[in-house]
Amino acid sequence: MREFIDSLLSKMTVSEKMGQLVQCGNSIYNDDYKVGWDLLREGKIGSFLGICDPEIINELQRTAVEETRLGIPLLFGFDVIHGFETTFPVPWAEACSWDTELAKKTAAIASAEAGAQGINWIYAPMVDVARDARWGRIVEGAGEDPYLGGEFAKARTEGVQSDIPDIPHVAACAKHFAAYGAAEGGRDYNSVDMSPQTLYNMYLPPFQKAIDAGADSIMTAFHDLNGEPCTGSYELLTEILRDKMNFKGVTISDAGSTNQIKTHGYAEDDKDVARIALNAGLDVEMCFGIYTYQDHIEQLVEEGKISMEVLDRAVRRVLELKYKCGLFENPYRDVKKAKDILLTKTALDTAYESAVKSVVLLKNDNSVLPFKKDIKLAVIGPFADNSEEMLGAWSAVGKAENVINPLCAISDVTETVYEKGCNFDSCVDMEKAVETVKQCDAVVVFIGEPRDMNGEGKSRTRNVIPKAQLDLLKAVKAAGKPTAAVVIAGRPVVLTEVCETADAVIFSGALGSMAGKAYADILFGVQNPSGKLVNTFPTTVGQAPLYYNHNNTGKPPVEEFFWTSKYCDCPIEPLFPFGFGLSYTSYSYDNMRINSECLNINDTLSVSVDVTNTGGRDGEETVQFYIRDVVGSIVRPVKELKAYKKVFIKAGETKTVTADIPVSDMGFYNKKLEYVVENGKFIAYVGGNSRDTLEREFEVTGSEET
Ligand code: GLC
Repeated sequence: MREFIDSLLSKMTVSEKMGQLVQCGNSIYNDDYKVGWDLLREGKIGSFLGICDPEIINELQRTAVEETRLGIPLLFGFDVIHGFETTFPVPWAEACSWDTELAKKTAAIASAEAGAQGINWIYAPMVDVARDARWGRIVEGAGEDPYLGGEFAKARTEGVQSDIPDIPHVAACAKHFAAYGAAEGGRDYNSVDMSPQTLYNMYLPPFQKAIDAGADSIMTAFHDLNGEPCTGSYELLTEILRDKMNFKGVTISDAGSTNQIKTHGYAEDDKDVARIALNAGLDVEMCFGIYTYQDHIEQLVEEGKISMEVLDRAVRRVLELKYKCGLFENPYRDVKKAKDILLTKTALDTAYESAVKSVVLLKNDNSVLPFKKDIKLAVIGPFADNSEEMLGAWSAVGKAENVINPLCAISDVTETVYEKGCNFDSCVDMEKAVETVKQCDAVVVFIGEPRDMNGEGKSRTRNVIPKAQLDLLKAVKAAGKPTAAVVIAGRPVVLTEVCETADAVIFSGALGSMAGKAYADILFGVQNPSGKLVNTFPTTVGQAPLYYNHNNTGKPPVEEFFWTSKYCDCPIEPLFPFGFGLSYTSYSYDNMRINSECLNINDTLSVSVDVTNTGGRDGEETVQFYIRDVVGSIVRPVKELKAYKKVFIKAGETKTVTADIPVSDMGFYNKKLEYVVENGKFIAYVGGNSRDTLEREFEVTGSEET
């Protein structure tokens, strides 16, 4: 590869080199960008965003390969966030499965479906740690915890980039670098200001896991981080990403985040933007109407404001990526094969498995669930027969007609009467819905947050279920029948009233193509829910940001003591803690033990616990292992997830579950940004969520004194 690229690079003009760094975001087929074809033939475009029709991809590819001077093929990028044609649960929902092997599988299937079309650059996984329920992009990631987020970053990167027979390599893109989820006020694109310690300890770890998993590319974020736009920050993109995190792949801006460097007030004009961004370490400009690299790089090189070394370094990385994607040998795709690979049985079976495992049971008073199959069931609410909503945000080319919605699936199981009762946020005919319920044995109400209220640019000050839907649930409950609520949302919505009203509450993000079948099989007990929340769920939005791995403060909240860190108008406790999820069975945790109460930096802490399935049916439990570093040279969180084990336990059976946690994993970046494990007292915790845990103390010794 090196010889091939050295030889190619040596032939390229500055203009052709610049071309490799230009990603065309406009539609080259619309009148507003007819000029695109000329630029393409002049070798001034190196990749395209958002084109996914194999015939069009082949046409553009043929133009690049056969009509430009050097015939360098194009990369085609697309947001395949949770499936291409087959739609899997939104990433935040799938993360509630805590099943990274499964996440790797769904990412690989999505990559194969997209890769077969000629897409060779997938803008996933989104690995932003997100703690603020007001931020709409929580839906794209894996929640509030750096460790769990890292596990999914690794799995999804490996999935996208896995070797799939007959499908050329597809590049993953970990995004959005960095700390995008910490936008002030939970307001998308807003400023982020945090200590380097928080950045290193909480927000960079999932990116490091993606890089260590071989991520081919990283996307830079829109926002300003500690005063510098991420897309133009030399410290972030070179000193941290390259020198400290050892990333060797391609960096690409977010759509238009280059020219926004000017909007931030960090560049005079577009020429300044191009100079700042390329020198900072931004390789590819994902253009959105403004092409700063295309318009200014040749002049900047001429003026010596961009060195040929800096330009060649970026171009080399892009050419290496094209080589890795096999584009120089085989730039074209077979249009028939591209179609045959979509929506296979394997893909849909995997979508079903992922959907089932992504469902979280939050409440089940008097075991109202699962329903018996011979009942007459009222199905109520605006999400019940809505296939579109099951696709969720960022659903690529997923189509509603390929979705099994809840009403369809439930009608296949039992006698069903359906009444919508209300729209997303307005009443339709509540009385009719209540009358329907009275004629039935039980009722399930499908409510939630419409998918166009989450995702990019969808920050909410009140992350609640729309009032019309809550009123419908209350009216239906008053009919006096066993009432289950299924809530679908793309963020930790406030479920306080829902939980006060319904007998049983099931929660998930949008579950994709097989959503209905998954809900039906859980409602009727064919499947036992096993999901666990990956964010802390607030009792009211005013608590945001709310997360489990917080510092203790000097005055930790004590309900009855006035001067402690809490609110005077709302309980400090969340409605549901991180890691929470019930089952149709129940589990007890006993006899926690650790291998030693005194360990040094090279040792491994081995934590065991006996988990008994005390209920009447088999189930899968996610046993979670946390630690606390009680005293540190900077204060440490009250809990940190360090391992978890998914275990299948038969009714009445007891299993010993053990996690081995290297002491070296218990460290943090200190005041000098050195990674250290400090001597002193630690506490190990184990449980089925982050709140209800057993604990054992132990001592770390032998670390060099800091
Ligand atoms: C969007 C998103 C980013 C996506 C890109 C291309 O603005 O921020 O996640 O990959 O543009 O669609």
